[in-house]
Amino acid sequence: MAERIRELLSEEAVNRRISEVADQINRDYAGKEIHLICVLKGGVFFTCELSKRLTIPVSMDFMSVSSYGDDTKSSGVVRIVKDLDEPLAGKHVLIVEDIIDSGRTLSYLIEVLRHRGPESIRLCTLLDKPERRVKKQVKVDYTCFTIPDEFVVGYGLDYAQKYRNLPYIGVVEQ
Ligand code: IMP
Ligand code: MG
Repeated sequence: MAERIRELLSEEAVNRRISEVADQINRDYAGKEIHLICVLKGGVFFTCELSKRLTIPVSMDFMSVSSYGDDTKSSGVVRIVKDLDEPLAGKHVLIVEDIIDSGRTLSYLIEVLRHRGPESIRLCTLLDKPERRVKKQVKVDYTCFTIPDEFVVGYGLDYAQKYRNLPYIGVVEQ
């Protein structure tokens, strides 16, 4: 059965905000190269839109992690489903995520990647739900939008693998 989706952030608002964050990243990394790590699958749309707006030299790699749990909750146990292809030594790494919820996925990922010797490691997320944070130590360097504790879809985010293709962010209403 199809769910009802209520628009939370329009396509225009999302793209405008991504441009602002990209400008900030361009300024912060001026004179440097940046290595984007797209966290699949949800981070794909955001990584594309963000990277198109970066004017500094960019390289990219992709990683897929899965947290055991149901569709709407992560369990805290994280497994690497697809690892990076490239080493990170000496690189300025920027992890690009769709959403930070409990923070469990990111806290695990940052820990793993830190051990690979990057020059620096920062975190950029399209959405942040701070009310739900369990791993308080996760520091987010770039956030496009802080949202309330609601389950959202679109712009890469899914509900049972559906709605990733929506060009806006919406709330699932059952
Ligand atoms: P965390 O480990 O609890 O921070 O969860 C991170 C992952 O859970 C995200 O990368 C998403 O894949 C998924 N997730 C959390 N909240 C939402 C949501 O509102 N909509 C869709 N996916 C979500
Ligand atoms: Mg994700």
